Amino acid sequence: MNLLEVLRGRFYQALLGWAPDPLTASALVKPATDSKFGDYQANAAMSLGKSMGKPPRQVAEELLARLQWDDILEKPEIAGPGFINLKFRNDYLEGLLSQAANDDRIGIAKVANPRRIVIDFSGPNVAKPMHVGHLRSTILGESLARLHRFLGHLVITDNHLGDWGTQFGILLYGYRNKLDAENLKKNPVAELARLYVEVRKEFKTGSDEEGGDKSDPVQDACRLETVKLHQGDEENLALWNRFMPFCLEEIDAVYRRLDVHFDHILGESHYQPMLATVVEDLLSLGIARESQGAVGVFITEEGAPALIRKSDGAFTYTTTDLATIDYRIREFNPTEILYVVDSRQHLHFHNLFETAKRWGRTGTESGPRLVHVPFGSVLGADRKPIKTRDGKAVANLDQLLDEAVRLAGEIFDANRAEDAELFNRSLVAETVGIGAVKYADLSQNRTTDYVFSWEKMLAMDGNTAAYMQYAYARCQSILRKAGVSPEALDTKAPISLATPEERALAIQILRMEEILLAGASELRPNIITGYLWDLAKAYSGFFQNCPVIKAPPALLPSRLLLCHLVARSLKLGLDLLGIQVIERM
Ligand code: ARG
Repeated sequence: MNLLEVLRGRFYQALLGWAPDPLTASALVKPATDSKFGDYQANAAMSLGKSMGKPPRQVAEELLARLQWDDILEKPEIAGPGFINLKFRNDYLEGLLSQAANDDRIGIAKVANPRRIVIDFSGPNVAKPMHVGHLRSTILGESLARLHRFLGHLVITDNHLGDWGTQFGILLYGYRNKLDAENLKKNPVAELARLYVEVRKEFKTGSDEEGGDKSDPVQDACRLETVKLHQGDEENLALWNRFMPFCLEEIDAVYRRLDVHFDHILGESHYQPMLATVVEDLLSLGIARESQGAVGVFITEEGAPALIRKSDGAFTYTTTDLATIDYRIREFNPTEILYVVDSRQHLHFHNLFETAKRWGRTGTESGPRLVHVPFGSVLGADRKPIKTRDGKAVANLDQLLDEAVRLAGEIFDANRAEDAELFNRSLVAETVGIGAVKYADLSQNRTTDYVFSWEKMLAMDGNTAAYMQYAYARCQSILRKAGVSPEALDTKAPISLATPEERALAIQILRMEEILLAGASELRPNIITGYLWDLAKAYSGFFQNCPVIKAPPALLPSRLLLCHLVARSLKLGLDLLGIQVIERM
């Protein structure tokens, strides 16, 4: 149920054939800026006043006379220069809540026009341990996939692993020069991680472009190993094939823990056989040209070209991404491809999308829309991006998750309830700890940097996962105390919104569809966390003012149903963020 769309629909009908551009004017129905005045407000009269040459308040009055409202709204009020305040009738809200209580999607419709959406996210460069820098893409991407799927779109998730890059040169060099053969047998994942770190320590410069500095003998030796691999050197290829399962196992452990899933894991190596053809194709079409021995696409005539073949013959990140677009169009025929990737890759995607357009892969009627979904960095307390080589516990992703779980366990012990034996400590700690890390990330404005803070993310009150999980557990505990299991609940019992707090809660429950659609269209999970926070606050107001178990008998079934609807909404909202709930905490 989408309350906003219901109202916009009514206004559209009222404006049609009377005012110019009814669609734009009806879109000026918005949630109320202050709930004192109503649930929503229509702001169209001011601009219509100008275009229709009448005083706005008169426009508002005439518009109201045309609006069909009395079956769903209290009498609308005109305020100030011509705002129309809209407040739903209680019996209308009660009816909608009853429908939601008897619907397995809590009344949230699937979209009428499902799209085919490829989501490219996570994409770590394997062969080195996952670190905090991989957190955002992984968590955001998973959430966007869940959200779009729930709304009824066909989602195809693909992990564009960096499994063919310079970091393998580092491993190959390490294997040849620093191997602890015993350790490789006993614990291959750990040995590869160790080799990576050991070799990196010998780099003279801390360049992120591993192997980029040719004047550094170790870096250059690593680079040469990569070149040999790419040229099909048998030994290096055999080692690559031997290392890959261990690298995958390492990242897979993190994905399992984060409850993150992919339909496809097609890494960069998958596209190697296609790269030469991409370059030839672009050359023969005149889209790319040679320049100083390299091949590039000149996005602007003055600027540096986007290289697709370097002068030493190596293909680039861009070449691989071009082949990937071509492949995805052929295999998945998507309406759009979302790239959930660090905002620092803005230029790469700008050049990539422009090249794909010139290549005729997009921009035509049939091609997919290509969208870079950028995000900011995770910063340390010093407000600098947290880096692997700081060597701090927090940089390594697996250790970071361990730490979150440990801290959540401590909080659990500190708040240890008398009936603590009823709780599963390790389940609570894992769910709260991992949930905290995810929620802290998803509740940020995606495009800005944020400072990583254990204290904030694990707070038991405030806009945190723990607070939402606790609110959920509290709903469940009320139902238990009332002696009804969720299955035995009488969902057909009439709902009555007897107090302002119940009414406020009803509005929040019924806003979820509107919120999910907004979150999807803006690709911002923080719209969902903001909503959960509002919902939890409304629930807290209800909880403090409306006794449930001690409610007058006539109100008890309705209040139990409200608790149940809140629990289901919280659980769904958290699930779309990839966060689990616990029945008792
Ligand atoms: N491996 C890349 C990196 O770590 C991210 C891959 C993103 N996806 C893509 N299709 N380029 O920077």
